[in-house]
Amino acid sequence: MISNSNGVQGGQVYFEMADGVAILRIENPPVNAGSYAVRQGLVGAIAKATEHQASGAIILGVGKCFVAGSDLREFGQPLKTPELPDVIRAIEDAPFPVVAALHGVALGGGLELALGCDYRIAALNTKVGLPEVSLGFVPGAGGTQRLPRLVGIAKAVDLICAASRISTRHAQEIGLIDAVSDGDILTDALAFLKSQTRSKRLAISQPVPADAEGAIDAATAKAIKRGKGRPNVTEAIRLVKAATGDAVQTLADERAVFQEMRLSEDAFALRHLFFAERSAATVDDVDPKLAGDVTTVGVIGGGTMGQGIARACLNAGLKVTVVEQNDEALAKSTSAIAQNFTAQVERGKRSVEQVNALLNALTGALELEKVAKCDLVIEAVFEDLDVKIELLAKLETVLAKNAIIATNTSYLNINEMVRQLSRPERVIGLHFFSPADVMKLLEIVRTDRTSDAVLATGLKLARRLGKQPVVAGVGEGFIGNRIYAAYRRRAELLVLDGATPQDVDAAITQFGFAMGPFAVSDMSGLDIAWAMRKRKASERSPEARYVTIPDSLCEAGRLGRKTGKGWYDYSNKTPEPDPVVEAIIAEARTEAGIAPQTYDTETIQRQLLAAMINEAALLLSEGIAKHPSDVDVTLTNGYGFPRWRGGPIYWAATQDRAKVRADIADLEIAIGQGFRTGPLDETLDQIDTPQKV
Ligand code: NAI
Repeated sequence: MISNSNGVQGGQVYFEMADGVAILRIENPPVNAGSYAVRQGLVGAIAKATEHQASGAIILGVGKCFVAGSDLREFGQPLKTPELPDVIRAIEDAPFPVVAALHGVALGGGLELALGCDYRIAALNTKVGLPEVSLGFVPGAGGTQRLPRLVGIAKAVDLICAASRISTRHAQEIGLIDAVSDGDILTDALAFLKSQTRSKRLAISQPVPADAEGAIDAATAKAIKRGKGRPNVTEAIRLVKAATGDAVQTLADERAVFQEMRLSEDAFALRHLFFAERSAATVDDVDPKLAGDVTTVGVIGGGTMGQGIARACLNAGLKVTVVEQNDEALAKSTSAIAQNFTAQVERGKRSVEQVNALLNALTGALELEKVAKCDLVIEAVFEDLDVKIELLAKLETVLAKNAIIATNTSYLNINEMVRQLSRPERVIGLHFFSPADVMKLLEIVRTDRTSDAVLATGLKLARRLGKQPVVAGVGEGFIGNRIYAAYRRRAELLVLDGATPQDVDAAITQFGFAMGPFAVSDMSGLDIAWAMRKRKASERSPEARYVTIPDSLCEAGRLGRKTGKGWYDYSNKTPEPDPVVEAIIAEARTEAGIAPQTYDTETIQRQLLAAMINEAALLLSEGIAKHPSDVDVTLTNGYGFPRWRGGPIYWAATQDRAKVRADIADLEIAIGQGFRTGPLDETLDQIDTPQKV
């Protein structure tokens, strides 16, 4: 680790005088996080520049970016001085103008540092933003006060509450940066500094520009809706609106809110996820340098998933060939892909030219040979092992030796799928979620034979597609679907034993999920799980508890939203409880000899969580997931688990352990025959909780 001139670890600031101008270079690899050492280095360098009677100063980052944010690891503990506001005060008090020269990214504390300078110049392709709200707190070094003074209240509310990252051009348009550099950033920053006639021009001394009528209210309403009632969002809005007031007071107000909120439960949970997501994107025993480039992708099967996968790849600038079985299916598939893009033009999200360019990169085909030159081929044909085995064998004869074959199977055993292949090491699971161009999660399934290079390429591709990867081993349902199945089973047993579907859905939405398990089933259709249950009927133990209600719903033609009825009735668009369902449930209870119990909201929530946690502990012990935090990443990115709760494992690790044990004991009673207990302590002890920090 690099230490600064005072020997403090965690980065340093290089100081140099060039032509009367002080050049301050921040170096704290890999992303120049604004650590204690960097803050100290900056304060020291500003003092040095004053001693040297510099005519101006330029702050820039060494390596791939300016400053990607403050060092989040410091945020769970008491902060050491100088804190970031102290650094900014030193810059503002300096007798010369300071220019922040941005490249790569300037986020969070990095952008606040830049906002504290007199001027900002940014290289093309720089991304700037204040992501603090997405981490459970608020900007704390003047972001909520200086940003509105440059861009107005409405835009500041929008940018801060959406935690947006915006481009150099966008930032220039709204007045966040003063100049754009399309050459060497330092040379351009020096020229810019020379061209400034005024000495100081601090953001904090500017009046807040007036907003268009109604703009502030509109931005506020949008932010509140998006913020789902989280207290830091409400506070961020209040602070930005206060920017018209006295700066000394409002900066102090912001700092106090920041100090409180960085130690809030939400902030600890979201920091856990921040590090969990980074760790999930790498594999300890695989060298990322082995990754190859993917520029051309074949998609076999252009149904629901194939279309989404094709769009995700096109969005990332890849060339895509979709192969279907016949003309009709192919035409349906390519026109559905095109229609989705065209709708984006109508919504103003893309220009006609952009959509045309995307569609030019798309080819439709009926012959497998048309994907012969692709770097990677993803199959998304029917969920049938024999169909997939046959397809993979054909692909092997068509593709180049080093091309990768991926399967999007949801449940099937990929080890079985590759058994007959001569090059099984080139096969990987890429399990996308529906809709594949929207959902963040991508489970990357490493079979017993997948090579390290293929896995590394899969992880690199995930990044290119803007997905959050999680590596899983082969096992029914991998990580996410397996845990979801345990959760859904518990939900159905709760209904059999006395709860109503609406009780269960309400309890889980109160916990923070967007939808409950029964509303989700109705949305995705009850027939898929029905078909699976029928297929597996012979494997079921006769002593195991079995909930017949979903079968009865399907037999009655209630397949969910697509038939207008499922667990709920959708005649009036919104889901409404239905007496027919009540009768089916009552009948199932009578048949099973059950005297219905009543369940309160907390019991329902804790039982559903216990089911997830126990299943997660089991699959971790089987090596299907590597780290407990991978489960949290999976459930929050693919299944609607509320991010601000950190994921099921983090949630459980922060609860009273005896209570979690009691929940699992109750779960065992409810499940009965066939229940297996996962290693709870071993799983939860691996999580860093606020108590441990
Ligand atoms: P789908 O039924 O909508 O699409 C399958 C498509 O594959 C059909 O258009 C069919 O004509 C085509 N097809 C079948 N055999 C073919 C062949 N030999 N050559 C070319 N095309 C062929 O199915 P869906 O929902 O898109 O699922 C596809 C795969 O993705 C399955 O393995 C499924 O388990 C998996 N999956 C599905 C998810 C979902 O939410 N629907 C989520 C994640 C994975």
